[in-house]
Amino acid sequence: MSQHPILIQGGMGAGVSSWRLANAVSRTGQLGVVSGTALEVILARRLQDGDPGGHMRRALDDFPFPRMAEQVWKTYYIPGGKAELASYRATPMHARVNSRELNELTIVANFVEVWLAREGHNNPVGINFLEKIQHPHLPAILGAMMAGVGYVLMGAGIPIKIPGVLDAYANMQPATYPLYVSGAQDGDDCMMRLDPREYMDSTLPPLRRPYFLAIIASNTLATTMVRKANGRVDGFIIEGPSAGGHNAPPRGKLVLNEKGEAVYGERDRVDLAKIREGGLPFWLAGGYGSPEMVAQALASGAAGVQVGTAFAYCEESGLREDYKQRLRDKAREGTIEVFTDPVSSPTGFPFKAALLEGTASDREVYLARPRICDIGQLRESYRKPDGSIGYRCSSEPVSIYLSKSGTVEETVGRKCLCNSLLANIGHQQVRAGKHIEPGLVTSGDDLVAIGRFMPKDGTAYTAASVVEQLMSGVPAECESEKAEVADVVSSTI
Ligand SMILES: Cc1cc2nc3c(=O)[nH]c(=O)nc-3n(C[C@H](O)[C@H](O)[C@H](O)COP(=O)(O)O)c2cc1C
Repeated sequence: MSQHPILIQGGMGAGVSSWRLANAVSRTGQLGVVSGTALEVILARRLQDGDPGGHMRRALDDFPFPRMAEQVWKTYYIPGGKAELASYRATPMHARVNSRELNELTIVANFVEVWLAREGHNNPVGINFLEKIQHPHLPAILGAMMAGVGYVLMGAGIPIKIPGVLDAYANMQPATYPLYVSGAQDGDDCMMRLDPREYMDSTLPPLRRPYFLAIIASNTLATTMVRKANGRVDGFIIEGPSAGGHNAPPRGKLVLNEKGEAVYGERDRVDLAKIREGGLPFWLAGGYGSPEMVAQALASGAAGVQVGTAFAYCEESGLREDYKQRLRDKAREGTIEVFTDPVSSPTGFPFKAALLEGTASDREVYLARPRICDIGQLRESYRKPDGSIGYRCSSEPVSIYLSKSGTVEETVGRKCLCNSLLANIGHQQVRAGKHIEPGLVTSGDDLVAIGRFMPKDGTAYTAASVVEQLMSGVPAECESEKAEVADVVSSTI
């Protein structure tokens, strides 16, 4: 019998898995997950939009240290919201060593998102991070744990050092995280450090250690996690290449199909028998958004499934309403296409995008946007000739990237995911009062099938209706097990 939920709503960045979506899913007794990506930027922009509904204020009021919460409020809140064509104030960019101000903003932002997702029910809530976005890890995880996050889920990299961070914070001890620095030499200090006690204005009750689920796409990574992680790994999410967001690159030499997408083959299949032998619970992700696939996953020994795309287009998701509606319409008409772009992401990982006019999936829209890097979540750290650490993004202006020892090949076809993803959730930057950042909607291949969740008389559907439909694939004997354990989970998490 597993003490974990069967259904995990995938963490979808940035802000698509908002607190509202995670709250709606966790209320059903399944696991709602907030995206932890760029939450400090999202909170700052929500406040500059005037905090509609007063939700940020409500969560800030419960932040244990009023001085820190007030500082964030004072810095970013604009009563009534900024003018539509005014620019958002920039937030500082992360680096190996952050200013105290940025660490506080990041701690508070992660607290707020998890706090709101947990509000009004007793079920666990998770937070999703990408390992590749390393700079914010230490303050972000601390903020999420201060709000009582029940699960930390992390993919897009090899998160072997995350369990140690969770353990350190649970013991109120300083945490460290090794930053990947391109070209680093022996003796370089590449460590990020954060002592939680330096951010506590008063003593807090002990923080609970959340479960840690690693998102993986290969047996090798599962083995590495178990053998090399610096603390407990509680399970795996095994994500296939049809999943939305970033995908693990295919193994071996990159082969493209006639549309220019990365091709996955036999070597990319995960051997579930080997995963089962490891004994840890696992969830399957990527195309599991139907009752039949839920049943199939459980029959294969999985503890459940993680589903993203079906939730991305439901009422509570953070995706902006106009994109959501147009994509639901296209899905219903059968005219939607999803393209797995091998180069658009500065991470170098394939990134899926729904083809939608007016967004950066449209070549003309992409080419019309001057390159600019002013959010910097995906910046890579590199060793400068003087031995210090510099930061660069292959989507920034090419001349600047080259001046930082980047290569021109690295810049080809790169898109600014930071600005696009914030535009997707209605926080598009406006420059010089007229240039409005376009979005770029990432989606799983399952987008073509979301019609199954839409009612006959319209296209909008709720997160609870997705949960209900997916859970109808769970055999009755698993359901009764879950009913028994639901109480255990809610009383301990
Ligand atoms: C819009 C969108 C954004 C996503 N962003 C992330 C992310 O930031 N981090 C992550 O680990 N997974 C991300 N994913 C993957 C989901 O968490 C989930 O694993 C995946 O959607 C499951 O496959 P499905 O899309 O076929 O349901 C994203 C998926 C979507 C649809």
